[in-house]
This record gives sequence, structure tokens and C-alpha cells, in this order.
Amino acid sequence: MSMPAPLVHWPPGASVNLQMFWRWLHIASAILWIGFLYFFNLVSSRFSAHLDPSTRPSVLPGLLWPTLNWFRWASLVTVLSGLAYLGEIVSTDAKNGGGNPGAFFGTFFGIWIVAWILFYGLLRFGNRPLLYVGASIAIFAASWLFLKWNSHGWESNRSLSIGIGGGMGFLLLLNVWGIVWRANKKILRWMEGAAASPASMPAELVSLGKQAALTSRFSFYLTFVIIFFMAAASHFPMFGV
Ligand code: HEM
Repeated sequence: MSMPAPLVHWPPGASVNLQMFWRWLHIASAILWIGFLYFFNLVSSRFSAHLDPSTRPSVLPGLLWPTLNWFRWASLVTVLSGLAYLGEIVSTDAKNGGGNPGAFFGTFFGIWIVAWILFYGLLRFGNRPLLYVGASIAIFAASWLFLKWNSHGWESNRSLSIGIGGGMGFLLLLNVWGIVWRANKKILRWMEGAAASPASMPAELVSLGKQAALTSRFSFYLTFVIIFFMAAASHFPMFGV
């Protein structure tokens, strides 16, 4: 008796294949990005804190330059591939329901950029409870406003769930490039100099380092909310008609 052939069908059509490519790239780069963020928060920050301050300059640059490079470029690929995929989803929704994808993306970028500016303003006070409470309120308000301005009936659960979770992911990208990378590259360059001729860290760098650490920890917590909305997009209908 002959065994039946395995049932394998590669879906035909450019659009479905392109979407699968964006999805695959998005998930692979998100694992890389968030994996490094978890490494910073769960492993390397504790390891650095236990190192003798005089040995940090000779140990940390070799570890952190490559890690930060993978981390920041993975963040960009995650967001760009996510946006490419979201573009496909929203334009299909708009075509089927007679909506305007331009307005959707206009509100997306407008709202989440303002939320980031508020986050950055709060961060400059250097006060953890103020940052956590203020930024959580700003992010909640941004999500609510996004839903309010994009509830015409044509937007699907996928579009809206990613509009919120992806908006938070976009805010995290601004944190990576605008705060964490900007501070750490200065600190690592200073450390390389200090490894050659020991010196104490200038106050400006100490303060930048604290801002980067606060941002990184807040971003770490926010990833759990983002992952909820990413996973809800196709599997947990809670938005739209
Ligand atoms: C911290 C950042 C992010 C992480 C960890 C992340 C992770 C994920 C994961 C794991 C999925 C697969 C969910 C599933 O199939 O159940 C997904 C889907 C998706 N993500 Fe993200 N993502 C992030 C940021 C973004 C951003 C910034 C955008 C775009 C603005 C985006 C757009 C999408 C889209 C369009 C999907 C497909 C949803 C669907 O198939 O219905 N993501 N994401």
C-alpha cells in the first residue's frame, strides 16, 4: 500500500507571499531586538553594577558596542517591516470599507510622536515614579485617542490592535535611537578613553546614563503590553465592528 503524499501547498499570489515575508522578517527582528532589551535589563545591567568601577572601562565597551549595534538596527528593521505589513493590512481594510489609510497613518504618527515628546519631557525630571505614572497616562491617552479618531467602521481589529501596540513599538524605537543609543555611545567612548588613562565620569554622562537606564527599564515593561496587542491583532477580536 502506497503512503499518501504529504499535503503541502505553498500559497500562490504575490500579495500573500509578500505579507508572509514582512511577517517573518518582523518577528525575527523583534526577537533579536527584544531579546537584547531583556538581556540589558535582566543580565548585563546587574553584571555591570557588580563590577569594580575601575575595571568597567576595560570590560564593558567590548561587550556593549556589538550588543548595542545589533539592538538598534534590529529595532529599526522591526518597525520598518511592521509598518510595511501594517500598510498592506490597512490599505486592504480601506479598499473594502471605503476608508482613508492616509488619515489612519497621519493619526498614528502624530499621536505617537506627541506621546514620545511627553515621555522625553517627563524623563528629564529624573524621577522614576513621575516617569512611570506620567508616561503610563500619556500612553493610555494616546491609545484612547487613536481608537477615537479611527472608529469609522472600516478599520479591522488587526489595524486597530497594531495601531496601538505598533504605536507603542514606534515609541520604543524613538527611545532606542533618541535616548538609549545617544547616551550609551557617549559613555562607551568616554570609557575607552578612561581605560587608557583613568578618570572619573563627567556629571553630564552620569545623568545621561541614568536617563538611559530609566528609559530601558520602562521600555522593558512596555514590551509585555506591546506583545499583547501584537498577538491580539489576528487572534483576539476586541476592536472595530
Ligand atoms: C516591540 C516591538 C514589537 C514586537 C515585539 C512585535 C512583535 C510581533 C509579533 C510576535 C507578531 C506576531 C503576532 C501573531 O502572529 O500572533 C507581530 C505581528 C505584527 N506586528 Fe509587531 N511587534 C513590534 C512592533 C511593531 C510595530 C512598530 C509595528 C508597526 C507599526 C508592528 C506591526 C505588526 C503587524 C502588522 C503584525 C501582523 C498582525 C497580524 O497578522 O494580524 N509591530 N508583531
